[in-house]
Amino acid sequence: MSPDPSARQAAIPSSVRGSLDAALQPLAPRTRTGAGFVLLERVSSTMDAARELANLDLRLDGLVVLADLQEQGRGRLARSWLAPVGSGLTFSLVLRPRAGESQQLWAMAGGGVAAGLQRLGVEAGLKWPNDVVVAGRKVCGILVEASWSGNAPQHALIGVGCNVNLDPDRVPAIAPLATSLSRELGHFVPRLRVLEALLDGLSEARRMLGRDPAELLRRYREVSVVRGRRVIATGGGGPPLRGEALDIDEHGRLLLRDEAGTIHRLSVGEVSLAVPPG
Ligand code: BTN
Repeated sequence: MSPDPSARQAAIPSSVRGSLDAALQPLAPRTRTGAGFVLLERVSSTMDAARELANLDLRLDGLVVLADLQEQGRGRLARSWLAPVGSGLTFSLVLRPRAGESQQLWAMAGGGVAAGLQRLGVEAGLKWPNDVVVAGRKVCGILVEASWSGNAPQHALIGVGCNVNLDPDRVPAIAPLATSLSRELGHFVPRLRVLEALLDGLSEARRMLGRDPAELLRRYREVSVVRGRRVIATGGGGPPLRGEALDIDEHGRLLLRDEAGTIHRLSVGEVSLAVPPG
């Protein structure tokens, strides 16, 4: 990728080109390679825009694609991601993992975002697989998508949606299960400050991805709010499973011991705590 920012910007197709907001530029070193930011006013999903950029093969490792409004923001399990304009942060981080680095992108993403929020003084935990929660309510969602050529990773996209100054009670679809940083901290939270903290957390996790995956996994487990708890797992294709969440393995699978003592390794789905926190 060209080191010259204006050449880089010119190489970005007009369909996804946004204004590079000057306020964001001091944060560029936090994108690890200094690849910078693309700030879009309105987009279907930052995942689509980020993929389009990543497919250009511009070595955009570390590029952050942000949008003020996503018209079709998406979540895991074919859900949508709703974020009223200005209420949160929605971005996708483009990574070019090296061989062997793709296995633990899930731990890098979850651990990195949780660590970022902790820098803001929020007690963030991870509800398997990658819901970032505070006191049992979701504050950020994470979507990881990777593109492969045979066994070689081409690029990975880490999509993060974070409720910053959202009043969840005003969004009935998410009200009972969601929270926001302003609600947890009790005051307005500048979005730039949140972006800074999240990128710091993600950059540190990115450094660990190739060097010390065991440490990445340890950090993920440390903030897991489901390990050792009684849970109900759904969304894996079968009937709901009740049991104890024993652990999360190195592939990101949840080890769940059901009431008959059988141990299941779940790779897809979600869990709710059988006994809510509190
Ligand atoms: C989930 O919890 O189900 C994951 C939600 C991920 C939402 C983010 S917002 C930025 C990026 N663009 C999307 O369309 N989705 C992710």
